[in-house]
Amino acid sequence: MFRTAVVRRPARSLAAGITSSPHLGAPDYDRALGQHDAYIRALEACGVSVTVLEALEEFPDSCFVEDTAVCLRDRAVLSNPGAPSRTGEVEEMERALRSFFPSDRIYRIREPGTLEGGDVLRTDTEFFVGLSGRTNKEGAIQLLTLLRDWGIPGQAVPVPGILHLKTGMSLVHGGRLLVTEEFADYPPFRAFEKILVPTEEAYAANCLWVNGNVIVPAGYPGVRRAVEGLGCRVLEVDTSEFRKIDGGLTCLSLLF
Ligand code: GLY
Repeated sequence: MFRTAVVRRPARSLAAGITSSPHLGAPDYDRALGQHDAYIRALEACGVSVTVLEALEEFPDSCFVEDTAVCLRDRAVLSNPGAPSRTGEVEEMERALRSFFPSDRIYRIREPGTLEGGDVLRTDTEFFVGLSGRTNKEGAIQLLTLLRDWGIPGQAVPVPGILHLKTGMSLVHGGRLLVTEEFADYPPFRAFEKILVPTEEAYAANCLWVNGNVIVPAGYPGVRRAVEGLGCRVLEVDTSEFRKIDGGLTCLSLLF
């Protein structure tokens, strides 16, 4: 059960965020703010208390707070983003997380390790850490070692040609995985029941499970129908402006 979410307001500099999809155009700041408001309301409707941090103009991607830390109920691991323009976001998040965790329960991924939270998938049984362009082997080993010391199993998995592991999959109701084509037969996830996302709706593989509810991005009817079929409550939030800079639903919050 998640009790807390931490989010950060989008910065006016949002349009300078890193993107692999320039053809989608620049995000509209006012529309992004409205979508962020709706996201906060959806989290609250799922029973979590939301802490809203101020925008950081010097960091265009800083609303994607998921990448800056991995939070468990009683401790947090600050990340070390593989994107150089994002490393300064971590210090800002550390300040915020000190309100939630004692300083001796705040750990960090250190050089030469890099890790972004978008590569960290928590399931009911274990953690998976994606090896991507943003998370390297050393960063994954550092996180997996901490988890192992805390009695939590985990493993590193290569990420095939997408930004983060959770760009192509997310945990939904009943411990199932919503996955894109690349992960349909991926050996590390063999044991999981999977729901395959239609290729044309690949963006919606990144949904957000919160306390028995699933938040899905607006505009992906196939994914919405599939998730509704699981018998859980489905909430829809439009993330069109965040998609333009490679952001999805999980990226916008830290949940613990
Ligand atoms: N624009 C999100 C990221 O690339 O980190």
